[in-house]
Amino acid sequence: MENVRIKVRENGPYLVTGVVTLVDADGTPYQVEQNFVLCRCGGSQSKPFCDGSHKTNGFTAGERAGQPTE
Ligand code: FES
Repeated sequence: MENVRIKVRENGPYLVTGVVTLVDADGTPYQVEQNFVLCRCGGSQSKPFCDGSHKTNGFTAGERAGQPTE
């Protein structure tokens, strides 16, 4: 899995770019494209993927790399 990038989007999902295998709790692979977004707000109706719900459910997250976590 070379050249895989996961970007933490401000107030939004994880943007995964690259060729990866995403599997469910049983190890069954999902069909994914080379670019897809994973929910991190918990509000998606199609988890683990983002369905855009973060835009209306009040989810905010603006952390940056190197910042201490609380
Ligand atoms: S991050 Fe988009 S629906 Fe959760």
